[in-house]
Amino acid sequence: MSQAQIIDAKLIAESLREEVGREVARLKTDHGLTPGLAVVLVGEDPASQTYVRSKGEHSKAAGMHSVTHRLPDDTTQADLLALVETLNRDPAIHGILVQLPLPAGLDEKSVINAIDPAKDVDGLHPMNAGYLAQGLPALVPCTPTGCMVLLERTLGSLSGKRAVVVGRSVLVGKPVAQLLLAADCTVTIAHSRTQDLPAVCREADILVAAVGRPRMVKADWIKPGATVIDVGINRVPFDNPEQAAAGKTKLVGDVAYKEALAVAGHITPVPGGVGLMTVACLLQNTVTAAKRIAGIEA
Ligand code: GUN
Repeated sequence: MSQAQIIDAKLIAESLREEVGREVARLKTDHGLTPGLAVVLVGEDPASQTYVRSKGEHSKAAGMHSVTHRLPDDTTQADLLALVETLNRDPAIHGILVQLPLPAGLDEKSVINAIDPAKDVDGLHPMNAGYLAQGLPALVPCTPTGCMVLLERTLGSLSGKRAVVVGRSVLVGKPVAQLLLAADCTVTIAHSRTQDLPAVCREADILVAAVGRPRMVKADWIKPGATVIDVGINRVPFDNPEQAAAGKTKLVGDVAYKEALAVAGHITPVPGGVGLMTVACLLQNTVTAAKRIAGIEA
């Protein structure tokens, strides 16, 4: 049985972070500009704490100005909006990321909408989503950009390929579909109401799974030789009943990885796949935002 090639996201993310580091150094030397990233974490969600720590560490490692604001669970909407406003006005900050999800009681949409679109390195502000939909220069969400970098470095041109995106979230599904369309793929967005989802997925040369359901995409949903990008990061009990009973958990994707290996041409693992690209693309977005704000050509 043939075996899929595992896409080396670790290597690709490292090379992208190095590229960003070199550009940061150049901006400092040539323009006296240090790109600055502010990350805001509200509450104590353990996964969010891990992601935010990683964003802080990698932005510092790339030579950026990096600040992390950790706010308590009971932060009010007004306090959070006031912090966003302060960061909007801070000339040392070029990128603002409010880690999601926010604790219950806080309105994510109005917080995202309060971020200056020029500093919206998450690409979630409706203005950036609109620019992306119209094919105009935008700050594009990091995980979808990461998917595209992996696809382009694996396959080269994506032109004319059939792409199926499973999931229609604002954070991943919709923007990745826009990016695939911009790369001249023929794109289908599938979701929970799609009829005969396995058959739709089997049409894909490129299958992007972004639903947040552990191991939902089975081997027989995959066209032989297809490229599978697994965006899911789901925490599940260990398969071994003794370890599961002891409360041990692990991370798995939206794709039944082991069985998919026998069918796909290329596939991303979880962990160690798309997730690694998100931070690298965040750093890249921060550099892009800093250059645009400073009026420096890309
Ligand atoms: N939570 C999970 N992924 C993301 C992301 O890309 N951006 C933000 N702000 N929060 C997230």
